[in-house]
Amino acid sequence: KIENNLRPNLFENYIGQEKVKENMQIFIEAAKFRQEALDHVLLYGPPGLGKTTLASIIANEMDVNIKVTSGPAIEKPGDMAAILNNLQQGDILFIDEIHRLNRQVEEVMYPAMEDYAIDIVIGKGPAARSIRLDLPKFTLIGATTRVGLLTSPLRDRFGVINRLELYSTEELTTIVTRSAKVLNVEMEKDGAVEIAKRSRGTPRLANRLLKRVRDYAQVKHNGKITKDIANASLNLLEVDKMGLDKIDRRLLQSMIEKFNGGPVGLDTLAASIGEDSGTIEDVYEPYLIKIGYINRTPRGRVVTPLCYKHFNLDYLVDCSDNE
Ligand code: ADE
Repeated sequence: KIENNLRPNLFENYIGQEKVKENMQIFIEAAKFRQEALDHVLLYGPPGLGKTTLASIIANEMDVNIKVTSGPAIEKPGDMAAILNNLQQGDILFIDEIHRLNRQVEEVMYPAMEDYAIDIVIGKGPAARSIRLDLPKFTLIGATTRVGLLTSPLRDRFGVINRLELYSTEELTTIVTRSAKVLNVEMEKDGAVEIAKRSRGTPRLANRLLKRVRDYAQVKHNGKITKDIANASLNLLEVDKMGLDKIDRRLLQSMIEKFNGGPVGLDTLAASIGEDSGTIEDVYEPYLIKIGYINRTPRGRVVTPLCYKHFNLDYLVDCSDNE
């Protein structure tokens, strides 16, 4: 069971991701009508956008059990076989960070997903035999921030592939307003907007910031969250006006100071700030691209004039032939 009362458990309370929701509701209704298990679903996108939440809503709407695990948690093929064998007809197996399943475990998944069966080898050497064990018809929901790291045999076995998008300020405002109600916190609309604006398009971050602003409002004031209080609290947390944190700023400043605004290759950039290039690509960059601070070009990443303005810098066109 997933415990967190800030998470909605019905589609009707899940804000945003409209296309994903609309499609999933159709697939769920069809599967229920045919009394079949839902086809396997892959959810991908930056962290904190509600992939786990969505999986639990799907289970709830299908009226089936959900078993939650993650790629790195399953070390041996036998562990995966045991998990699969313990499912009931129609159940959902949710595997977070599915790109981190190891090779042997992943190979168990192929026949499991395709034929609802696993192949078990009995004995060793010339006497070894493989027997096929039938599984209950289940639904795999896989989630990943790194869809590029999925092998194609695994990716191809998902019948539904959904990409989750960063949320708009309006959507995040609705989400934090709902969360404030659940947490029983008084908040003005402008306070909600302020938190939403600084949450990098990410509900998990919006809810986390809401809790920190609540602490601030309670200790420094009377508990009610206003725009000014949200502002002061978020400044203290070093979350800037656009929601950029220290790593975002380090990345952008490195591009400006060390690479003259780019173009700079992803790996070079990653090395210059000591981050993993995949993490930059999948975690940091999507928001910076969304707000128009970075562009991707064939020759690498470039910083935009808007980003220079953010740091109160003039955007200088290179005129190096001035004597
Ligand atoms: N909490 C996390 N994601 C959410 C969403 N999309 N809608 C409402 N609450 C959420």
